[in-house]
Amino acid sequence: MMNTIWSENIQGVKTLYLSRRLRFDDCFFGQYEKAFGLDRNAPLKILEIGCGPGALCEALRRWYPNAEITGIDRDHNFIAFAKENVSGVEFLEADATKLPFADESFDVTISYTVSEHIEPTAFFGEQFRVLKPGGVCLCLSARKGLRCPASCLATTPQEKAFWEAVSTDENELETYGVGKYATSEAELPATLAKNGFSGITTSYAAIDLTPDDPKYPETMALAMIEAERAGDLEAIESMHAKDTDAVIKAVNKKYDERIRLYKAGEKQWDTALSLNLIVRGVK
Ligand SMILES: C[S@@+](CC[C@H](N)C(=O)[O-])C[C@H]1O[C@@H](n2cnc3c(N)ncnc32)[C@H](O)[C@@H]1O
Repeated sequence: MMNTIWSENIQGVKTLYLSRRLRFDDCFFGQYEKAFGLDRNAPLKILEIGCGPGALCEALRRWYPNAEITGIDRDHNFIAFAKENVSGVEFLEADATKLPFADESFDVTISYTVSEHIEPTAFFGEQFRVLKPGGVCLCLSARKGLRCPASCLATTPQEKAFWEAVSTDENELETYGVGKYATSEAELPATLAKNGFSGITTSYAAIDLTPDDPKYPETMALAMIEAERAGDLEAIESMHAKDTDAVIKAVNKKYDERIRLYKAGEKQWDTALSLNLIVRGVK
């Protein structure tokens, strides 16, 4: 049966893709490259587990031009989107706890914000099985970040009224096991060791998204603002409520204003920083 649990109930395809495209932008590659410790030119076979709509696979395609990259996820909508939008990567629907690959068939396994949701013995055990001896497991996990929105992006009265009127199930994420296996910064490397990996290292990549910082070109700054807009709109649409015109208009109006301020050079210095733990282990 087709699985669409994540994309329909937890994070939508477009929001996830746009937000991850920013986090894996080339301007952050220096931080990832150091932590990954991979030969850029080697013909590596890389498997991304829980690849979602494919933004990390897309970045790996650029960063490791001679690598053969495969992305798997059990969500049908993510894989369909990735197949349509990301070229040069093989995508397939598969379960991380039963990988459809032979033993010792990959040089690298990698995942981003996935270990938190899958039972660790199965998650890391399968990666250990499909990695070649000496192969590298890279487990990336988003930690608490910083978020300081621009005042023009404050919640509008229309949004407040909308969210008060729709009924939300507070326990919904728990129902889907989201974050059930979340680990602390100390527990994650210990979990890799417990599952057979050695030579464990930890690194942190700090992904700073501040549109007004002149180090970012206009295209990147606008992509940051648009990713936030898409997230807000997708959250509203996902409620399948009637009469959303007013709230959608209000959301669009505030993001249009943010873009106007950016283009006028009226700095807001709003920022979103995500801190990403990268644990590396060797089979
Ligand atoms: C937080 S999302 C991250 C997606 C992607 N790594 C990204 O950052 O865009 C977690 C992903 O894990 C996938 N997932 C959860 N359990 C899975 C399983 N047992 N097998 C394969 N994928 C799974 C979900 O479908 C979802 O795409």
